[in-house]
Amino acid sequence: MRESAVKGGIRNRQLILALEPEAASVYCKHIPNELKVADGQTTIDALSAGTKYLILDAGGGTIDITVQEVQADESIKQLYMANGGDWGGTKVDLAFENFLEEFAGKPALQKFREDDKGGHLDLQREFEIKKRTIKSDQKGKLTIRVPVSLREAHKKVSGRDLQSNNLAKLDKDKLRLESSAAKDMFADPCDYIVSHLQKIFDDPKVKGTDTILMVGGFSESLILQDAVKKAFPSKIVIIPPEAGLAVLKGAVQFGFEPKVISTRVCKVTYGIASSILFDEENDPEDKRFTDEHGNDYCSGRFSKHVEIGQSIGIDEEIEEQSYSPVSSDQTSMAIDVWTSTNKNPRYTDERGCSLHGKISVKLPDPKLGVKRNVGVKMIFGKTELEVRAIVKHTGKSTAAKFDFLR
Ligand SMILES: Nc1ncnc2c1ncn2[C@@H]1O[C@H](COP(=O)(O)OP(=O)(O)OP(=O)(O)O)[C@@H](O)[C@H]1O
Ligand SMILES: [Mg+2]
Repeated sequence: MRESAVKGGIRNRQLILALEPEAASVYCKHIPNELKVADGQTTIDALSAGTKYLILDAGGGTIDITVQEVQADESIKQLYMANGGDWGGTKVDLAFENFLEEFAGKPALQKFREDDKGGHLDLQREFEIKKRTIKSDQKGKLTIRVPVSLREAHKKVSGRDLQSNNLAKLDKDKLRLESSAAKDMFADPCDYIVSHLQKIFDDPKVKGTDTILMVGGFSESLILQDAVKKAFPSKIVIIPPEAGLAVLKGAVQFGFEPKVISTRVCKVTYGIASSILFDEENDPEDKRFTDEHGNDYCSGRFSKHVEIGQSIGIDEEIEEQSYSPVSSDQTSMAIDVWTSTNKNPRYTDERGCSLHGKISVKLPDPKLGVKRNVGVKMIFGKTELEVRAIVKHTGKSTAAKFDFLR
């Protein structure tokens, strides 16, 4: 991300990367007087020290969930982080497209999309506006302007006029949609989000979380807000003003006050690729190699430094681990940093592992042979991981920074 920004003309020194859920909570922290709770009262101390709260960031594509705790010094500690899946607001758009497909027929809709791309875009825009007005107690019909080219496409494809059905009526260029059909388009994403939240609240790690902060554009949907409030009547549901802009505005505030985040949960396991003595019982033959002293090693082992789910303080230095060259005439050592979605990966070529970055350290004095240890330390900064390698016998250190925004 940093590399792309620099290529885009932003100066490296002037760039601070912010993690979205953290930016969202920074924003929420700054607007206590305006916070609205479920019953319409305002609350001042919903985010006071000791409070654990869940941030639901419902965007267009994805749902991101984090649980955080306000510390005594008002900084924020992250307790839990999860990707809630692809159940954002665009699922409602998709449901509308599916509805149109059923209404006009797949071939007609296909033809309409091909023949009148602009018209299709207009229809999507029109739906986007209407989508924002739909309430859970919506009565009457929802009127959506539909380009005449849809009707024409239907006629061309089927030879018949487009007929109304019990859910929608086409009246010239207006589609009058039953409110039940409009509300149904929200059902799947809302159900999914609610059941996902339920699962998270059942996790002992988040015990005592009584507040839900809803941010992201889709959180502005009155239907989603009602679904969450209804499913969790005992929780305080806070929807900050301009929930859709919470991440953006919070990121700006984070730039002024980066220390506000004190601890975060590691999203993946981090480690270094290394060779470890061959374990006859567990290691596969194709990874076996013999060094110059006749010892058998297993290549491509994942040497874990930090585990997924582990809480890490900002700027915390993780305990150093030591590596040595495999052959005595080596003049450099490659430090390959790997990530894994598993807790305890054994090999770097396992499913879920991927190469995160590389550094190479110079290894002078080959006369010292394989005894030239290199200590590797990972330091988790605000949004970046620094990997520092120290050649023990020279004291020389090489470092590289990798951003861990994913
Ligand atoms: N008032 C509203 N009612 C219903 N949906 C809304 C409302 N306002 C915005 N949305 C929806 O929210 C979504 C956009 O949210 P947001 O801007 O948070 O997404 P994003 O951050 O770009 O996406 P992602 O987080 O998935 O990368 C769109 O699907 C939009 O239709
Ligand atoms: Mg988003």
